[in-house]
Amino acid sequence: MIEESHKNGKKLTYHILTYGCQMNVRDSEIISGLLDGMGYIEEAALVEADLVLFNTCSVRHSAENKVYGKLGEINKLKKKHPNLIIAFGGCMAQLPGVVTRLKRQGVDIIFGTHNLHELPYLIEQFRATQKKVVQVWQQHGEVIESLPSKRKEGISAFVNIMYGCNNFCSYCIVPYTRGRERSRHPQEIITEVIQLVNSGYKEVTFLGQNVNSYGKGLSENYDFADLLVMADKVEGLDRIRFATSHPKDMSDKLIDTIANGEKLCEHIHVPLQAGSNTILQKMNRGYTRDHYLKLVDKMREQIPGVAITSDLIVGFPGETESDFLETLDMVEKVRFDAAFTFLYSIRSGTRAALMDDQLDLDVKKNRLIRLNELQYGIAAELNRTLEGSIQNVLVEGISKTNEDKLTARTRNNRIVIFSGSKDLIGKLINVKITKGKTFSVFAETV
Ligand code: SAH
Ligand code: SF4
Ligand code: F3S
Repeated sequence: MIEESHKNGKKLTYHILTYGCQMNVRDSEIISGLLDGMGYIEEAALVEADLVLFNTCSVRHSAENKVYGKLGEINKLKKKHPNLIIAFGGCMAQLPGVVTRLKRQGVDIIFGTHNLHELPYLIEQFRATQKKVVQVWQQHGEVIESLPSKRKEGISAFVNIMYGCNNFCSYCIVPYTRGRERSRHPQEIITEVIQLVNSGYKEVTFLGQNVNSYGKGLSENYDFADLLVMADKVEGLDRIRFATSHPKDMSDKLIDTIANGEKLCEHIHVPLQAGSNTILQKMNRGYTRDHYLKLVDKMREQIPGVAITSDLIVGFPGETESDFLETLDMVEKVRFDAAFTFLYSIRSGTRAALMDDQLDLDVKKNRLIRLNELQYGIAAELNRTLEGSIQNVLVEGISKTNEDKLTARTRNNRIVIFSGSKDLIGKLINVKITKGKTFSVFAETV
Protein backbone atom coordinates (compact mmCIF):
# COMPACT_ATOMS: atom_id res chain seq x y z
CA MET A 1 0.00 0.00 0.00
CA ILE A 2 1.19 3.51 -0.77
CA GLU A 3 2.10 5.50 2.32
CA GLU A 4 -0.15 8.49 2.79
CA SER A 5 1.47 11.90 3.12
CA HIS A 6 0.89 15.60 2.49
CA LYS A 7 2.00 16.90 -0.90
CA ASN A 8 4.94 18.54 0.91
CA GLY A 9 6.02 15.13 2.21
CA LYS A 10 4.93 15.73 5.81
CA LYS A 11 3.26 12.69 7.39
CA LEU A 12 -0.50 12.85 7.79
CA THR A 13 -1.88 12.65 11.32
CA TYR A 14 -4.95 11.10 12.93
CA HIS A 15 -6.92 11.42 16.13
CA ILE A 16 -9.37 8.71 17.31
CA LEU A 17 -12.40 9.49 19.48
CA THR A 18 -13.50 6.31 21.24
CA TYR A 19 -16.94 5.94 22.84
CA GLY A 20 -18.61 2.96 24.52
CA CYS A 21 -17.32 -0.25 25.99
CA GLN A 22 -14.03 -2.10 26.25
CA MET A 23 -14.70 -3.74 22.87
CA ASN A 24 -14.47 -0.33 21.27
CA VAL A 25 -11.31 0.51 23.18
CA ARG A 26 -9.81 -2.66 21.74
CA ASP A 27 -11.11 -1.91 18.23
CA SER A 28 -9.53 1.55 18.42
CA GLU A 29 -6.17 -0.12 19.11
CA ILE A 30 -6.61 -2.07 15.87
CA ILE A 31 -7.70 1.05 13.96
CA SER A 32 -4.59 2.75 15.29
CA GLY A 33 -2.46 -0.15 14.08
CA LEU A 34 -4.03 0.04 10.61
CA LEU A 35 -3.50 3.80 10.33
CA ASP A 36 0.11 3.55 11.50
CA GLY A 37 0.57 0.90 8.81
CA MET A 38 -0.55 3.49 6.23
CA GLY A 39 2.12 5.89 7.44
CA TYR A 40 -0.23 8.10 9.44
CA ILE A 41 0.97 9.39 12.81
CA GLU A 42 -1.20 9.61 15.92
CA GLU A 43 -1.87 13.21 17.00
CA ALA A 44 -2.82 13.92 20.60
CA ALA A 45 -4.33 17.34 19.80
CA LEU A 46 -7.59 16.85 17.93
CA VAL A 47 -7.47 20.28 16.25
CA GLU A 48 -4.11 19.45 14.64
CA ALA A 49 -5.18 16.15 13.07
CA ASP A 50 -5.68 15.59 9.30
CA LEU A 51 -8.06 12.69 9.99
CA VAL A 52 -10.54 12.53 12.87
CA LEU A 53 -12.05 9.10 13.39
CA PHE A 54 -15.15 8.42 15.51
CA ASN A 55 -15.43 4.92 17.02
CA THR A 56 -18.97 5.07 18.32
CA CYS A 57 -21.46 3.41 20.70
CA SER A 58 -25.23 3.14 20.38
CA VAL A 59 -26.13 1.29 23.57
CA ARG A 60 -28.12 4.24 24.93
CA HIS A 61 -29.53 7.46 23.50
CA SER A 62 -27.09 9.46 25.67
CA ALA A 63 -24.11 7.69 24.05
CA GLU A 64 -25.34 8.66 20.58
CA ASN A 65 -26.01 12.23 21.68
CA LYS A 66 -22.44 12.69 22.83
CA VAL A 67 -21.25 11.60 19.40
CA TYR A 68 -23.60 13.97 17.54
CA GLY A 69 -22.48 16.84 19.78
CA LYS A 70 -18.84 16.17 19.02
CA LEU A 71 -19.55 15.74 15.32
CA GLY A 72 -21.07 19.23 15.29
CA GLU A 73 -17.86 20.59 16.81
CA ILE A 74 -15.64 18.81 14.30
CA ASN A 75 -17.75 20.08 11.43
CA LYS A 76 -17.05 23.64 12.58
CA LEU A 77 -13.38 22.77 12.61
CA LYS A 78 -13.71 21.46 9.06
CA LYS A 79 -14.88 24.88 7.90
CA LYS A 80 -11.46 26.21 8.94
CA HIS A 81 -9.55 23.15 7.66
CA PRO A 82 -11.36 22.00 4.51
CA ASN A 83 -8.92 19.12 4.02
CA LEU A 84 -9.84 17.53 7.33
CA ILE A 85 -11.17 14.01 6.77
CA ILE A 86 -13.92 12.74 9.09
CA ALA A 87 -14.25 8.95 9.35
CA PHE A 88 -17.04 7.32 11.31
CA GLY A 89 -17.23 3.72 12.53
CA GLY A 90 -18.34 1.55 15.42
CA CYS A 91 -21.77 0.47 16.58
CA MET A 92 -23.71 3.58 15.45
CA ALA A 93 -22.50 3.06 11.90
CA GLN A 94 -24.24 -0.33 11.79
CA LEU A 95 -27.65 1.32 12.12
CA PRO A 96 -29.26 2.31 8.79
CA GLY A 97 -31.06 5.38 10.21
CA VAL A 98 -27.78 6.73 11.54
CA VAL A 99 -26.00 6.34 8.21
CA THR A 100 -28.67 8.37 6.42
CA ARG A 101 -28.27 11.15 8.96
CA LEU A 102 -24.45 11.07 8.85
CA LYS A 103 -24.34 11.50 5.10
CA ARG A 104 -25.90 14.92 5.64
CA GLN A 105 -23.46 15.80 8.41
CA GLY A 106 -20.07 16.23 6.83
CA VAL A 107 -18.81 12.70 7.41
CA ASP A 108 -16.51 11.52 4.60
CA ILE A 109 -16.03 7.84 5.36
CA ILE A 110 -18.48 5.48 7.10
CA PHE A 111 -17.44 1.94 8.02
CA GLY A 112 -18.97 -0.69 10.31
CA THR A 113 -17.89 -3.04 13.09
CA HIS A 114 -17.52 -5.97 10.67
CA ASN A 115 -15.17 -4.33 8.20
CA LEU A 116 -12.58 -2.46 10.28
CA HIS A 117 -9.90 -4.15 8.22
CA GLU A 118 -11.10 -2.34 5.08
CA LEU A 119 -10.40 1.08 6.56
CA PRO A 120 -7.08 1.70 4.74
CA TYR A 121 -8.74 1.02 1.37
CA LEU A 122 -11.72 3.21 2.22
CA ILE A 123 -9.41 6.08 3.14
CA GLU A 124 -7.43 5.64 -0.06
CA GLN A 125 -10.65 5.56 -2.05
CA PHE A 126 -11.83 8.80 -0.45
CA ARG A 127 -8.50 10.54 -1.03
CA ALA A 128 -8.48 9.45 -4.67
CA THR A 129 -12.07 10.45 -5.48
CA GLN A 130 -13.01 13.04 -2.80
CA LYS A 131 -16.43 11.38 -2.84
CA LYS A 132 -18.14 10.09 0.30
CA VAL A 133 -17.33 6.43 0.97
CA VAL A 134 -19.92 4.30 2.78
CA GLN A 135 -19.06 0.67 3.37
CA VAL A 136 -20.95 -1.08 6.16
CA TRP A 137 -21.29 -4.86 6.14
CA GLN A 138 -24.61 -6.06 7.46
CA GLN A 139 -23.13 -9.43 8.40
CA HIS A 140 -19.85 -10.45 9.93
CA GLY A 141 -17.26 -12.37 7.93
CA GLU A 142 -14.64 -14.81 9.26
CA VAL A 143 -12.77 -13.82 12.43
CA ILE A 144 -9.65 -12.05 11.12
CA GLU A 145 -6.55 -12.80 13.17
CA SER A 146 -3.75 -11.01 11.38
CA LEU A 147 -4.74 -7.36 11.89
CA PRO A 148 -2.10 -5.00 13.26
CA SER A 149 -2.81 -3.27 16.52
CA LYS A 150 -1.22 -0.55 18.60
CA ARG A 151 -1.87 -0.90 22.32
CA LYS A 152 -1.19 1.91 24.73
CA GLU A 153 1.82 0.98 26.82
CA GLY A 154 0.69 -0.27 30.16
CA ILE A 155 0.20 -2.96 32.69
CA SER A 156 -3.16 -4.33 31.64
CA ALA A 157 -4.41 -5.31 28.18
CA PHE A 158 -7.78 -6.21 26.70
CA VAL A 159 -7.98 -9.43 24.73
CA ASN A 160 -11.05 -10.30 22.66
CA ILE A 161 -12.00 -13.93 23.02
CA MET A 162 -15.26 -13.73 21.08
CA TYR A 163 -17.34 -11.30 19.09
CA GLY A 164 -21.07 -10.66 18.80
CA CYS A 165 -24.04 -11.80 20.85
CA ASN A 166 -26.89 -14.25 20.34
CA ASN A 167 -28.98 -13.36 23.35
CA PHE A 168 -31.25 -10.63 22.02
CA CYS A 169 -32.18 -9.16 25.38
CA SER A 170 -35.24 -7.21 24.30
CA TYR A 171 -33.84 -3.77 25.24
CA CYS A 172 -30.42 -4.21 23.65
CA ILE A 173 -28.99 -3.00 20.33
CA VAL A 174 -25.68 -4.89 20.59
CA PRO A 175 -26.78 -8.05 18.71
CA TYR A 176 -27.73 -5.75 15.81
CA THR A 177 -24.46 -3.81 15.81
CA ARG A 178 -22.06 -6.67 16.55
CA GLY A 179 -23.71 -9.59 14.82
CA ARG A 180 -23.85 -13.23 15.88
CA GLU A 181 -21.59 -14.86 18.41
CA ARG A 182 -18.29 -16.31 17.20
CA SER A 183 -15.28 -17.39 19.24
CA ARG A 184 -11.59 -16.98 18.51
CA HIS A 185 -9.54 -20.13 18.42
CA PRO A 186 -7.96 -20.80 21.87
CA GLN A 187 -4.46 -21.11 20.44
CA GLU A 188 -4.73 -17.62 18.89
CA ILE A 189 -5.80 -16.19 22.24
CA ILE A 190 -3.04 -17.86 24.24
CA THR A 191 -0.42 -16.81 21.67
CA GLU A 192 -1.64 -13.21 22.03
CA VAL A 193 -1.44 -13.47 25.84
CA ILE A 194 2.14 -14.79 25.66
CA GLN A 195 3.11 -11.95 23.31
CA LEU A 196 1.58 -9.44 25.73
CA VAL A 197 3.55 -10.88 28.65
CA ASN A 198 6.72 -10.71 26.54
CA SER A 199 6.09 -7.03 25.94
CA GLY A 200 5.66 -6.30 29.64
CA TYR A 201 1.94 -6.61 30.37
CA LYS A 202 1.05 -8.12 33.75
CA GLU A 203 -2.70 -8.50 33.45
CA VAL A 204 -5.14 -9.43 30.71
CA THR A 205 -8.91 -8.93 30.60
CA PHE A 206 -10.73 -11.36 28.32
CA LEU A 207 -13.59 -9.64 26.52
CA GLY A 208 -16.87 -10.95 25.18
CA GLN A 209 -20.53 -9.95 25.46
CA ASN A 210 -21.15 -13.31 27.11
CA VAL A 211 -17.85 -15.00 27.91
CA ASN A 212 -19.68 -17.92 29.51
CA SER A 213 -20.74 -19.16 26.11
CA TYR A 214 -17.19 -18.96 24.70
CA GLY A 215 -16.28 -21.95 22.53
CA LYS A 216 -19.69 -22.72 21.08
CA GLY A 217 -19.22 -23.27 17.37
CA LEU A 218 -15.51 -24.13 17.58
CA SER A 219 -14.68 -27.45 15.97
CA GLU A 220 -13.26 -28.94 19.15
CA ASN A 221 -15.14 -29.38 22.41
CA TYR A 222 -13.70 -26.48 24.36
CA ASP A 223 -15.30 -23.96 26.74
CA PHE A 224 -14.49 -20.79 28.69
CA ALA A 225 -13.30 -22.69 31.77
CA ASP A 226 -10.86 -24.65 29.56
CA LEU A 227 -9.53 -21.37 28.17
CA LEU A 228 -9.03 -19.95 31.67
CA VAL A 229 -7.14 -23.07 32.78
CA MET A 230 -4.81 -22.69 29.80
CA ALA A 231 -4.30 -18.94 30.33
CA ASP A 232 -3.63 -19.51 34.03
CA LYS A 233 -0.51 -21.46 33.05
CA VAL A 234 1.09 -18.61 31.07
CA GLU A 235 4.35 -17.80 32.84
CA GLY A 236 5.06 -14.21 33.77
CA LEU A 237 1.39 -13.19 33.76
CA ASP A 238 0.11 -12.01 37.15
CA ARG A 239 -3.63 -11.64 36.72
CA ILE A 240 -6.53 -12.64 34.49
CA ARG A 241 -9.88 -10.85 34.44
CA PHE A 242 -12.90 -11.23 32.17
CA ALA A 243 -16.22 -9.58 31.28
CA THR A 244 -19.11 -10.10 30.88
CA SER A 245 -20.70 -13.22 32.39
CA HIS A 246 -24.34 -13.98 31.72
CA PRO A 247 -26.20 -15.45 34.74
CA LYS A 248 -27.99 -18.03 32.63
CA ASP A 249 -24.73 -19.56 31.34
CA MET A 250 -22.54 -19.57 34.48
CA SER A 251 -21.55 -23.24 34.90
CA ASP A 252 -20.38 -25.05 38.04
CA LYS A 253 -17.25 -25.97 36.12
CA LEU A 254 -16.50 -22.28 35.56
CA ILE A 255 -17.04 -21.38 39.23
CA ASP A 256 -14.80 -24.25 40.23
CA THR A 257 -12.11 -23.15 37.78
CA ILE A 258 -12.11 -19.58 39.10
CA ALA A 259 -11.92 -20.92 42.67
CA ASN A 260 -8.85 -23.00 41.85
CA GLY A 261 -7.03 -20.66 39.48
CA GLU A 262 -3.86 -18.97 40.59
CA LYS A 263 -4.10 -15.86 38.42
CA LEU A 264 -7.87 -15.82 37.96
CA CYS A 265 -9.07 -12.79 39.92
CA GLU A 266 -11.95 -13.13 42.36
CA HIS A 267 -14.27 -10.75 40.58
CA ILE A 268 -17.29 -11.69 38.51
CA HIS A 269 -19.30 -9.10 36.61
CA VAL A 270 -22.61 -10.86 36.20
CA PRO A 271 -25.35 -8.34 35.35
CA LEU A 272 -28.73 -8.90 36.97
CA GLN A 273 -30.47 -6.06 35.01
CA ALA A 274 -33.74 -6.23 37.00
CA GLY A 275 -35.13 -7.83 40.13
CA SER A 276 -38.66 -8.74 39.12
CA ASN A 277 -39.39 -12.00 37.32
CA THR A 278 -41.99 -10.31 35.13
CA ILE A 279 -39.47 -7.75 33.91
CA LEU A 280 -36.68 -10.33 33.54
CA GLN A 281 -38.97 -12.31 31.31
CA LYS A 282 -39.96 -9.28 29.24
CA MET A 283 -36.26 -8.52 28.93
CA ASN A 284 -35.69 -12.05 27.59
CA ARG A 285 -32.91 -12.64 30.10
CA GLY A 286 -33.53 -16.34 30.54
CA TYR A 287 -33.32 -16.61 34.36
CA THR A 288 -35.34 -15.78 37.46
CA ARG A 289 -34.42 -13.90 40.63
CA ASP A 290 -34.27 -17.23 42.40
CA HIS A 291 -31.77 -18.64 39.92
CA TYR A 292 -29.66 -15.52 40.38
CA LEU A 293 -29.71 -15.71 44.18
CA LYS A 294 -28.68 -19.37 44.10
CA LEU A 295 -25.86 -18.51 41.71
CA VAL A 296 -24.64 -15.78 44.06
CA ASP A 297 -24.64 -18.22 46.99
CA LYS A 298 -22.69 -20.75 44.98
CA MET A 299 -20.09 -18.21 43.86
CA ARG A 300 -19.63 -16.86 47.39
CA GLU A 301 -19.37 -20.32 48.92
CA GLN A 302 -16.80 -21.58 46.48
CA ILE A 303 -14.72 -18.47 45.78
CA PRO A 304 -13.75 -16.85 49.08
CA GLY A 305 -13.62 -13.05 48.91
CA VAL A 306 -15.24 -12.92 45.46
CA ALA A 307 -16.60 -9.54 44.39
CA ILE A 308 -19.88 -9.68 42.50
CA THR A 309 -20.75 -6.68 40.35
CA SER A 310 -23.74 -5.96 38.16
CA ASP A 311 -25.46 -3.79 35.61
CA LEU A 312 -29.00 -2.67 36.47
CA ILE A 313 -31.63 -0.99 34.32
CA VAL A 314 -34.56 1.01 35.74
CA GLY A 315 -37.68 2.02 33.86
CA PHE A 316 -38.00 -0.87 31.42
CA PRO A 317 -41.41 -0.70 29.66
CA GLY A 318 -44.21 -1.73 32.00
CA GLU A 319 -42.00 -1.69 35.12
CA THR A 320 -44.39 -0.99 38.01
CA GLU A 321 -43.40 0.49 41.35
CA SER A 322 -43.61 -2.98 42.83
CA ASP A 323 -41.36 -4.44 40.08
CA PHE A 324 -38.87 -1.70 40.88
CA LEU A 325 -39.05 -2.48 44.60
CA GLU A 326 -38.04 -6.02 43.69
CA THR A 327 -34.89 -4.63 42.07
CA LEU A 328 -34.13 -2.74 45.30
CA ASP A 329 -34.85 -5.92 47.22
CA MET A 330 -32.36 -7.88 45.10
CA VAL A 331 -29.73 -5.16 45.62
CA GLU A 332 -30.25 -5.49 49.36
CA LYS A 333 -30.15 -9.28 49.29
CA VAL A 334 -27.11 -9.67 47.03
CA ARG A 335 -25.16 -6.64 48.25
CA PHE A 336 -23.24 -6.01 45.03
CA ASP A 337 -19.69 -4.80 45.48
CA ALA A 338 -20.42 -2.33 42.68
CA ALA A 339 -23.04 -1.80 40.01
CA PHE A 340 -23.47 0.27 36.88
CA THR A 341 -26.99 1.63 36.85
CA PHE A 342 -28.87 2.89 33.79
CA LEU A 343 -32.10 4.56 32.79
CA TYR A 344 -33.81 2.36 30.22
CA SER A 345 -33.26 3.93 26.81
CA ILE A 346 -35.47 3.15 23.80
CA ARG A 347 -33.36 1.60 21.02
CA SER A 348 -35.17 1.59 17.76
CA GLY A 349 -35.13 -1.84 16.12
CA THR A 350 -35.27 -3.75 19.41
CA ARG A 351 -38.35 -5.58 20.69
CA ALA A 352 -38.69 -3.44 23.81
CA ALA A 353 -38.90 -0.29 21.67
CA LEU A 354 -42.21 -1.61 20.34
CA MET A 355 -43.72 -2.28 23.77
CA ASP A 356 -46.53 0.18 24.35
CA ASP A 357 -46.09 0.78 28.08
CA GLN A 358 -43.03 3.04 27.99
CA LEU A 359 -42.52 5.01 31.21
CA ASP A 360 -42.18 8.75 31.71
CA LEU A 361 -38.67 10.10 32.12
CA ASP A 362 -39.55 11.52 35.56
CA VAL A 363 -40.51 8.08 36.86
CA LYS A 364 -37.32 6.54 35.48
CA LYS A 365 -35.15 9.31 36.95
CA ASN A 366 -36.78 9.03 40.35
CA ARG A 367 -36.12 5.28 40.40
CA LEU A 368 -32.51 5.72 39.33
CA ILE A 369 -31.90 8.15 42.20
CA ARG A 370 -33.38 5.72 44.72
CA LEU A 371 -31.44 2.78 43.29
CA ASN A 372 -28.14 4.68 43.33
CA GLU A 373 -28.68 5.84 46.88
CA LEU A 374 -29.11 2.24 48.03
CA GLN A 375 -26.32 0.75 45.90
CA TYR A 376 -23.76 3.48 46.68
CA GLY A 377 -24.45 3.07 50.39
CA ILE A 378 -23.83 -0.67 50.17
CA ALA A 379 -20.64 -0.23 48.11
CA ALA A 380 -19.28 2.28 50.65
CA GLU A 381 -20.16 -0.04 53.54
CA LEU A 382 -18.43 -2.99 51.89
CA ASN A 383 -15.37 -0.86 51.17
CA ARG A 384 -15.23 0.30 54.79
CA THR A 385 -15.06 -3.34 55.95
CA LEU A 386 -11.66 -3.49 54.23
CA GLU A 387 -10.20 -0.79 56.51
CA GLY A 388 -7.18 -2.13 58.41
CA SER A 389 -6.75 -5.15 56.11
CA ILE A 390 -3.65 -5.94 54.08
CA GLN A 391 -4.37 -6.39 50.36
CA ASN A 392 -2.23 -7.59 47.51
CA VAL A 393 -2.54 -5.07 44.68
CA LEU A 394 -1.22 -4.64 41.15
CA VAL A 395 0.02 -1.07 40.72
CA GLU A 396 -1.41 0.27 37.47
CA GLY A 397 -0.10 3.82 37.23
CA ILE A 398 -0.57 7.42 38.32
CA SER A 399 -4.03 8.15 39.76
CA LYS A 400 -6.33 9.90 37.28
CA THR A 401 -7.80 12.08 40.02
CA ASN A 402 -4.58 12.95 41.87
CA GLU A 403 -1.24 13.18 40.08
CA ASP A 404 0.72 12.74 43.30
CA LYS A 405 -0.82 9.35 44.01
CA LEU A 406 -0.66 5.90 42.49
CA THR A 407 -3.62 3.76 41.51
CA ALA A 408 -3.73 0.01 41.98
CA ARG A 409 -6.32 -2.74 42.08
CA THR A 410 -7.05 -5.57 44.49
CA ARG A 411 -7.70 -9.00 43.06
CA ASN A 412 -11.39 -8.39 43.65
CA ASN A 413 -11.31 -5.18 41.62
CA ARG A 414 -11.23 -2.46 44.28
CA ILE A 415 -9.50 0.67 43.05
CA VAL A 416 -6.81 1.52 45.60
CA ILE A 417 -5.28 5.01 45.83
CA PHE A 418 -2.01 5.46 47.74
CA SER A 419 1.27 7.39 47.87
CA GLY A 420 4.35 5.62 46.62
CA SER A 421 7.30 5.68 44.26
CA LYS A 422 6.62 5.45 40.53
CA ASP A 423 9.01 2.48 40.48
CA LEU A 424 6.17 0.44 41.93
CA ILE A 425 4.12 0.70 38.71
CA GLY A 426 3.65 -2.77 37.25
CA LYS A 427 4.48 -4.53 40.51
CA LEU A 428 2.40 -6.65 42.85
CA ILE A 429 2.72 -5.26 46.38
CA ASN A 430 0.96 -5.40 49.73
CA VAL A 431 -0.83 -2.31 51.04
CA LYS A 432 -2.84 -1.57 54.14
CA ILE A 433 -6.32 -0.13 53.52
CA THR A 434 -6.83 3.06 55.53
CA LYS A 435 -10.20 4.30 54.27
CA GLY A 436 -13.09 2.86 52.27
CA LYS A 437 -15.10 5.20 50.01
CA THR A 438 -17.92 4.52 47.52
CA PHE A 439 -15.90 3.99 44.35
CA SER A 440 -12.39 3.41 45.71
CA VAL A 441 -10.34 2.81 48.84
CA PHE A 442 -7.30 4.65 50.22
CA ALA A 443 -4.24 2.79 51.43
CA GLU A 444 -0.62 3.05 52.55
CA THR A 445 2.37 0.92 51.66
CA VAL A 446 3.50 -1.62 54.27
N1 SAH B 1 -23.16 -8.08 27.16
C1 SAH B 1 -23.11 -7.43 28.38
C2 SAH B 1 -23.22 -5.92 28.34
C3 SAH B 1 -23.86 -5.22 27.23
S1 SAH B 1 -24.14 -3.51 27.24
C4 SAH B 1 -24.19 -8.04 29.26
O1 SAH B 1 -25.11 -8.65 28.81
O2 SAH B 1 -24.07 -7.87 30.44
C5 SAH B 1 -23.81 -2.99 28.88
C6 SAH B 1 -25.01 -2.70 29.68
O3 SAH B 1 -25.77 -1.65 29.14
C7 SAH B 1 -26.00 -3.83 29.82
O4 SAH B 1 -25.62 -4.78 30.76
C8 SAH B 1 -27.27 -3.11 30.22
O5 SAH B 1 -27.35 -2.96 31.62
C9 SAH B 1 -27.09 -1.73 29.61
N2 SAH B 1 -28.00 -1.52 28.49
C10 SAH B 1 -28.07 -2.18 27.32
N3 SAH B 1 -29.07 -1.71 26.57
C11 SAH B 1 -29.67 -0.72 27.27
C12 SAH B 1 -30.78 0.16 27.03
N4 SAH B 1 -31.49 0.09 25.92
N5 SAH B 1 -31.09 1.06 27.99
C13 SAH B 1 -30.38 1.13 29.12
N6 SAH B 1 -29.35 0.34 29.41
C14 SAH B 1 -28.99 -0.58 28.49
FE1 SF4 C 1 -27.08 -7.06 25.02
FE2 SF4 C 1 -28.10 -9.10 26.33
FE3 SF4 C 1 -26.22 -9.52 24.48
FE4 SF4 C 1 -25.58 -8.35 26.76
S1 SF4 C 1 -26.33 -10.46 26.54
S2 SF4 C 1 -24.98 -7.70 24.71
S3 SF4 C 1 -27.40 -7.15 27.24
S4 SF4 C 1 -28.30 -8.75 24.13
FE1 F3S D 1 -20.03 -1.59 23.17
FE2 F3S D 1 -21.68 0.42 22.83
FE3 F3S D 1 -21.26 -1.24 20.85
S1 F3S D 1 -21.52 -0.78 24.62
S2 F3S D 1 -20.75 -3.18 21.78
S3 F3S D 1 -19.76 0.12 21.82
S4 F3S D 1 -23.22 -0.36 21.40
